[in-house]
Amino acid sequence: MAAQEPSTRKKKSRERFAHPEVAIPTATRKSFYGHGIPGVKLEELAGKLIVIEGADGSGRSTQINRLVKWLEATGHATVQVGLKRSTLVSEELAAAQEGNILSRTTLSLFYATDFADQLVNVIIPSLRAGFIVIADRYIYTLMARDLARGADMDWLRNLYDIALVPDAVIYLKVSPQTLVQRNFAKNPELDYWESGMDLGLSRDMFDSFLRYQSILIDQFRDLQKVYNFRIVNADRPVEPIQNMLRKWIDTVLTRG
Ligand SMILES: Nc1ncnc2c1ncn2[C@@H]1O[C@H](COP(=O)(O)OP(=O)(O)OP(=O)(O)O)[C@@H](O)[C@H]1O
Ligand SMILES: [Mg+2]
Repeated sequence: MAAQEPSTRKKKSRERFAHPEVAIPTATRKSFYGHGIPGVKLEELAGKLIVIEGADGSGRSTQINRLVKWLEATGHATVQVGLKRSTLVSEELAAAQEGNILSRTTLSLFYATDFADQLVNVIIPSLRAGFIVIADRYIYTLMARDLARGADMDWLRNLYDIALVPDAVIYLKVSPQTLVQRNFAKNPELDYWESGMDLGLSRDMFDSFLRYQSILIDQFRDLQKVYNFRIVNADRPVEPIQNMLRKWIDTVLTRG
């Protein structure tokens, strides 16, 4: 078969997605969940904060990469943040997870510090500059993990009342069975923490992973009632999920 002309190929790839154009964002007043960060003038935060939540291997990076290309192709500057990416503590946090030196509470506070550092030094300044900030996970994953380990919801809400309320939160819901396949597609081994091995659910890592991920799905369902995020069935091919995300984000960008 003859190769397609580049222009035809380009057109075809544009047609695959329902929303090739991106709306111009309308500025909306931001808010914090609680006390927030002192001294931040919320009315100055002109950008948008979009959060993609989901378990390890649920397809967050796959979807975010496509979203960023779509947004940037139409002239929107984007910034990406994610858990364990702060310059302040990410390396120390990773090192601490290798050993057994942190209690559940100190590990939780370590993650909260990592989050606070990115909030203050990346998320807020980027929103002030009018960027679209895409967060690969946010406080909800941190809360779900802690709740699965018996943390108190009021304590967690209090801890994370520094967080900004995002403009959109999308949770990619994937069954534990599909998650296993997607994780194995990336790595030959399951991750100790993402398998919840510290919880003693099972000695078998595979079994523990399935149980732990089911617990997290339940925690996310409960959190959704409080934080009202959008749950997307991500047990599907990449493109229909991406189309849904684009449609939803388009609505969010123009919401006045
Ligand atoms: N909708 C999908 N259908 C089938 N496979 C997918 C889908 N989305 C992602 N994958 C594949 O699943 C694996 C995990 O995807 P990806 O890296 O995007 O997930 P992630 O949530 O970012 O993972 P991590 O938590 O490790 O960062 C990859 O091999 C990817 O190609
Ligand atoms: Mg990823």
